[in-house]
Amino acid sequence: MTRIPTLFFATAALFALIGMAWGIQMSASQDHALSPAHGHLNLIGFVAMAVFGGYYALNPLAAASRLAMVHYALTLAAVIVLVPGIVMALRGTGEALAKGGSVLALLSMALFLVAVLRHARGLMR
Ligand code: HEM
Repeated sequence: MTRIPTLFFATAALFALIGMAWGIQMSASQDHALSPAHGHLNLIGFVAMAVFGGYYALNPLAAASRLAMVHYALTLAAVIVLVPGIVMALRGTGEALAKGGSVLALLSMALFLVAVLRHARGLMR
């Protein structure tokens, strides 16, 4: 496997470990106030990252492109900005990070679409 799928998968596993530990802490404390942040950490940090990694593992040409590294960096940044942003928004201490993180997450998904379409031409012939 090339470097990009490994980066996506390793980061996905790391976010899943953090997200699950957070879920256990929420359950144990019976304080679910931050569950939307936990949900987004797991869904973008683990599920989306793993789906992207799977795509690049199946498409070595796409994985070798510079766009793939930009896509990885953008997805990582989206999780790192969005999750604390949701925590802040839930606590009423500001929405700027959540707004910025949402835009980064949207851009990450748009880049995924670009990568898929760009490398679909050869496959569809
Ligand atoms: C050790 C594993 C996990 C534990 C103990 C855990 C625990 C929790 C708890 C206690 C809640 C709050 C439920 C409520 O207030 O009704 C929650 C919500 C949620 N969890 Fe998890 N979770 C785990 C893993 C995951 C994973 C792997 C995902 C996704 C891939 C996930 C996605 C979500 C979502 C989407 C919500 C709802 C968020 C919301 O209400 O806005 N969780 N989880």
